[in-house]
Amino acid sequence: TVLVVDFGAQYAQLIARRVRECHVYSEIVPSTMPVAEMLAKRPKAIILSGGPSSVYAGGAPAVPEGLFETGVPTFGICYGFQVMAQALGGRVARTGAAEFGGTALTVLREGMLFAGLPAAQQVWMSHGDSVVAAPDGFLVTASTADTPVAGFEDVARGIYGVQFHPEVMHSAHGQAVLKHFLDAAGCRPSWTMLNIVEDAVAAVQAQVGDGRAICALSGGVDSAVAAAIVQRAIGDRLTCVFVDHGLLRKGEAVQVEQDFVAATGVKLRVVDAAERFLKALAGVTDPEEKRKIIGREFIRVFEDEQRAILADGPADFLVQGTLYPDVVESGGGTGTANIKSHHNVGGLPDDLKFALVEPLRALFKDEVRRAGEELGLPAAMVWRQPFPGPGLGIRIIGEVTQERLDILREADAIAREELSRAGLDRDIWQCPVVLLADVRSVGVQGDGRTYGHPIVLRPVTSEDAMTADWSRVPYDVLARISTRITNEVREVNRVTLDITSKPPGTIEWE
Ligand code: XMP
Repeated sequence: TVLVVDFGAQYAQLIARRVRECHVYSEIVPSTMPVAEMLAKRPKAIILSGGPSSVYAGGAPAVPEGLFETGVPTFGICYGFQVMAQALGGRVARTGAAEFGGTALTVLREGMLFAGLPAAQQVWMSHGDSVVAAPDGFLVTASTADTPVAGFEDVARGIYGVQFHPEVMHSAHGQAVLKHFLDAAGCRPSWTMLNIVEDAVAAVQAQVGDGRAICALSGGVDSAVAAAIVQRAIGDRLTCVFVDHGLLRKGEAVQVEQDFVAATGVKLRVVDAAERFLKALAGVTDPEEKRKIIGREFIRVFEDEQRAILADGPADFLVQGTLYPDVVESGGGTGTANIKSHHNVGGLPDDLKFALVEPLRALFKDEVRRAGEELGLPAAMVWRQPFPGPGLGIRIIGEVTQERLDILREADAIAREELSRAGLDRDIWQCPVVLLADVRSVGVQGDGRTYGHPIVLRPVTSEDAMTADWSRVPYDVLARISTRITNEVREVNRVTLDITSKPPGTIEWE
């Protein structure tokens, strides 16, 4: 294990991911964790992350007491580099020469971290204070125009640091620097997908024993991978429930009902609730009301299924696809197995008490996808872009009807197919296709006048869906999508492109 000491969450998560990309397991711990507790995790190495503070600010987080006496190899990054310098007797000053963004770094001495790397390299900086003198006995390895000490190391003590952010893509040799540290610390690359899946399966077996578990599948990657792991661990003692609300995209229900089951052998109960949802949505146009109705109906159907499953005997566990970023953000980043007694998750009745099984708690999204591949899940499922729970229900602007769903499903399938064919799946975060069902416009097709509906394409790029920009999809790809949709979906005679960033526009239209 490599512990990433968190001085500012977003940096720490990225570092942890990069360490794992070197096939070394890493875990994020708060900077307030006592060193004895860190040592109990038997870390091979420790990384001090960057963070938003200045070492001079009141209440600035400090290096955990006694850390440098442990003998565990330690690497400080940005803020972590500065607190390290200060704690070891170096000098940090507010030089007034802040560096933000791409910066030219000069390697003065290769040492361990820069071995074999170019003397001049581009790195990503983000700091106000600078280390102006390295602690005694340290070799200064790098500098920039404004930062005399941009890297130092004491190989004998196993202490290393750099001012820049090796974890971000824009640092040209960042990953190599990180790898050199891990090698120097003696970390072996044993965190492979096969091990990850095997460990997760073993952990579920240990937790569930000979109990039974229930899992709701949504068609998304998280619940699918979680279910596949639990299935591998306890076989038929897992029952999955798939509520088909009729608001999924073309092929997605089949993916769950056939491909996923074929790939995993999971015991699945399918509930075709399309009619029930349509009936509940009849006449409703307000977006919030649609969401509420869809959520409410989902819970009701799921409750009925629970009761039916429980009639066969008790089930003690509910499988959830919780990911590591959620765990870190909710303050539970210490990685201790957290078995909460279930409380109303997914709106289950209060009298049903479940313990949660969360086999993805230690994983980042990209690792979940790779675990899904390792488990042999359908590629379309593993690589599926985000899709909202209320589904196409919030992509029809106006009342949701069967006919409108059919129109939107066809148009959406064409857009997805063409974007995939153009190799854009990994560049685009997601591309909602929206039907303006209450709008009509005049067109001409063949010899006749048409009076059809417009479709909106909403391709966006994003890191986390909190902010987004509209994707610059090549014109020829857009042209193909437009031609095909207007030719193949009779009710649509106009295709438009949404060129709004988020903010101000949300990704979805409702
Ligand atoms: P917005 O539209 O708020 O969407 O910019 C941000 C991200 O969240 C997804 N989204 C949802 N996901 N249930 C979900 O599971 C929902 O009700 C929901 N609404 C929006 C959206 O697709 C985007 O990825």
